Amino acid sequence: MVKVYRCKICGEGYIGDEMPSHCPFCGAHKDRIVLANQWSWPKFELTDISRKNLEEALTLEISNFEFYFCAAKKTDNEADQTMFKRLAKIEREHADTISKLLNADGPDISKKKDSCNPDNTDNLRESHEREENAIKHYSAFLSQATEERVKEVFSAIIEIEKDHLSLTEGRI
Ligand SMILES: [Fe+2]
Ligand SMILES: [Fe+2]
Repeated sequence: MVKVYRCKICGEGYIGDEMPSHCPFCGAHKDRIVLANQWSWPKFELTDISRKNLEEALTLEISNFEFYFCAAKKTDNEADQTMFKRLAKIEREHADTISKLLNADGPDISKKKDSCNPDNTDNLRESHEREENAIKHYSAFLSQATEERVKEVFSAIIEIEKDHLSLTEGRI
């Protein structure tokens, strides 16, 4: 029998027989997923330092969305197109999650065509650099956070971006 599950990071729901190994929306690992009736979005007070860090994280996620959206269009390789499109949607979900933590209206996202390189190999390499850069920043933001909710979201997103790193390993 199908059940409704919910991701504690992005808050999205999933309907299925079993819990997915990763959130299909934000990529969070299984231990962040619960039955929908067992969790609700936490309310908390944001500190000034976390506000500043989340704003920086939002800019980074939007830029990575734009990059992956562009990269998907530059290659004829359908497997790479599929990967870049999924990565774009995941980074978009991260941007949505972060703006929700900031109580903002939602990310200001454009679909510019010039946010990446013309060559696919360069985009695979840049993907790796962008994920490394995100992990570096989020690790610093995590260590500066005092709110449990902010710590939870940054640790989950670090795990997800590490998964992304492994996708391009061996190809660059
Ligand atoms: Fe999620
Ligand atoms: Fe991300």
